[in-house]
Amino acid sequence: MSHYFRSNIRAMSGYAPGEQPRDGDFIKLNTNENPYPPSPKVYAALRQSIAASLRLYPPPMSESLCAAAAAAYGVKAENVLAGNGSDELLAIVMRCFVDAGQRVAYPVPTYSLYDTLVEIQAAVPVGVPFPEDFSVPEQLARQDAPLTILCNPNAPSGTLVALPKIVELARSVAGILVVDEAYVDFAASEGASALPLIYQLPNLIVLRTLSKSFSLAGMRVGLAFASAELIAGMNKVRDSYNLDRLSIAAGSAALGDMAWMQRNAARIQRSRQQLAAGLKRLGYQVYPSHTNFILARQRDKNLQPVYEELKRRKILVRYFDAPGLRDCLRITVGTPKEVRALLTELATISA
Ligand SMILES: Cc1ncc(COP(=O)(O)O)c(C=O)c1O
Repeated sequence: MSHYFRSNIRAMSGYAPGEQPRDGDFIKLNTNENPYPPSPKVYAALRQSIAASLRLYPPPMSESLCAAAAAAYGVKAENVLAGNGSDELLAIVMRCFVDAGQRVAYPVPTYSLYDTLVEIQAAVPVGVPFPEDFSVPEQLARQDAPLTILCNPNAPSGTLVALPKIVELARSVAGILVVDEAYVDFAASEGASALPLIYQLPNLIVLRTLSKSFSLAGMRVGLAFASAELIAGMNKVRDSYNLDRLSIAAGSAALGDMAWMQRNAARIQRSRQQLAAGLKRLGYQVYPSHTNFILARQRDKNLQPVYEELKRRKILVRYFDAPGLRDCLRITVGTPKEVRALLTELATISA
C-alpha cells in the first residue's frame, strides 16, 4: 500500500461487511436485515420528499428526525443525535473520546467494526473475552479506557446483559460507556434497553439503528441518546449534513409508526423460536437469542464447509473466520418460509 498513508491505515485490513450478492435469488440470512418491508408511511414520506426540492441541502441538525425520536422514546430532542447509520455514530464517538494510543475496551467476540474504528483512530483495541455464558467479563471495567463499548444484545452471540449490570459497569468504567443497542427491539424481555438510564448516568451513550427492527438498512439512519452535554459535544464532530433529505423523512416516518415495527419484531421473535428449535433438533448448540439472528455452534467442528454448501444451494448465512467462531454459523431470522428452507437444506448437510 502507498507510503502516503498513515502507518496505522497501511497496517489495517479494513472492515469486511457481509456479502451483498448481485443476483437476487439467494435466501439472504447473512447481514441481519429485516425480512419484512418498512411501514407504508415511510414510502409516503419518501414520495413527498422527492417532490420537495432536492436542490437544497438538508436541515443540518435533522431536527424533524430528532423530534420524532424524542417523542418515540420519551426523551428531549437535546438528548438525541442522528447519524448516517449507527456506524457513523460509532465513528463520531471514537473521534470524540479517544486519542491515538489510548485504549478502547469491549468484550469479544463482538461487532467487528469496533476493531476497525479503533485502528483508524490509531488507538489500542482491548478485547476482553466474554465468559462461556456471554455475561459481562469481570475485567471489563478495569481497563482504564476512555471508551468502553458494550454491544447489547451482543452480536454475534445474540445474548443479552440485564440492566443492573449495565448500571454497575457505567459506574465503574474510567470513561464513556457506549451501549450499542442495534438489536434491542428483538429482545425477548421487556425493559431491556438502557435508554432511560441516560438521565442518571452522565457517561452513558445509547446507540440505536433503524436498519434492523424498522427495516431501513438501505436508508442509513442511526440514533445516539445521551445527556444534552454529550450530545452537544458530539454534534461538533459529525459532518455538517450527515443525513440526506430522504433519510430524514424516512426515519421520521418510521419512528411515527412504532406499531408497525413492533408487529414485525414480534413476527421475527416467533420465527426465531422456530429456527432455534430446528437447529437444536439438528444437533446445533444454540445461544439464547435476543436479536434477529441466532448463533449456532457445533463444538470444535469447522463450519466453513457447511456455510459454503449452503451458499452453493443459494442460502447465505454468516461464517466468521475468527478465533472462537469457526465452529459457529450466524443465521439471520428470516420469514417462516425462509427458516423452513434453511432447516431443510441444513438437515442434508453434515458438519
Ligand atoms: C452491533 C451493531 N451495531 C451497529 C450496526 C450498524 O448499524 P447501521 O446500519 O445503523 O450502521 C450493526 C450492523 O450490522 C451491528 O450489528
